[in-house]
Amino acid sequence: MIVSRPFLKWPGGKYRLVERISKALGPANRLIEPFVGSGAVFLNTHYDHFLLADNNPDLINLYQTLHKENQTFIRYAEKLFQDSNNAESYYANRDEFNNSKNIRRKAALFIYLNRHCYNGLCRYNKSGGFNSPFGRYKQPSLPVDSMQAFQQKSHHADFQLSSFAETMRQAEKGDVVYCDPPYVPLSKTANFTNYSAEGFGLEKQEELADLAREIAAKGVRVVISNHDTPEIKKLYKTAKFSEFEVPRFISQDTNNRNTASEILAVFKAAKN
Ligand SMILES: C[S@@+](CC[C@H](N)C(=O)[O-])C[C@H]1O[C@@H](n2cnc3c(N)ncnc32)[C@H](O)[C@@H]1O
Repeated sequence: MIVSRPFLKWPGGKYRLVERISKALGPANRLIEPFVGSGAVFLNTHYDHFLLADNNPDLINLYQTLHKENQTFIRYAEKLFQDSNNAESYYANRDEFNNSKNIRRKAALFIYLNRHCYNGLCRYNKSGGFNSPFGRYKQPSLPVDSMQAFQQKSHHADFQLSSFAETMRQAEKGDVVYCDPPYVPLSKTANFTNYSAEGFGLEKQEELADLAREIAAKGVRVVISNHDTPEIKKLYKTAKFSEFEVPRFISQDTNNRNTASEILAVFKAAKN
């Protein structure tokens, strides 16, 4: 399978697992992704419609702007990549991003920050300011081809800024739902990816599993990815799941690799 890579660097991006996920999802009219992130599953699956949601307003604003403006936006964003690969420009652009109310400008700055920040980390402080440091890449560029591919495919998609519960409640018969939440940490001391100021604790993991059961009971298949831990297996005990190892890149140094155990859980209505 030839895999299309998303145009954003996004921690937890699923492009390496799309074949496995796509098999677990199966056929449906519409795919709903309550945690769309960089959209790897959207880009590599084929449905008539997509509902793509996330609670990150900067991400959804970027997708909506690209969808609406296409080439005009790409040319506008390209200007930000000229003579700006240095710490001074990066921190000036980051300040502008954190203070701007202009949504088009914010969308362009968001992709600039994503390509220039450390490890593509999308990190916010407690007051919601983007605070990832400068990444020191050799020659970051605007990923024009993959932006265009994303834009083409988004003719079949609706983008929505919402929390996962609100998105999941929109599921109807004929839909399939793929959830890729922030994972539970593998250990109490493990680093936890911080996608937003509010975090994603055990209570939210429980709410997600409860909603998956509720929606599955209505006849909608729900597939969830997470780390393979005893607490997750307990939470997903009514689902069918498969476990597997995935490579992890711990830092920019590609020799520093490791593996982690993941789970793919499928919730579906019990047959009478
Ligand atoms: C593991 S990432 C998804 C990665 C995605 N599958 C991909 O391929 O890039 C988790 C996503 O969940 C979003 N998120 C975190 N908390 C959320 C919430 N309460 N409701 C909706 N989205 C949330 C984050 O903004 C992030 O984009």
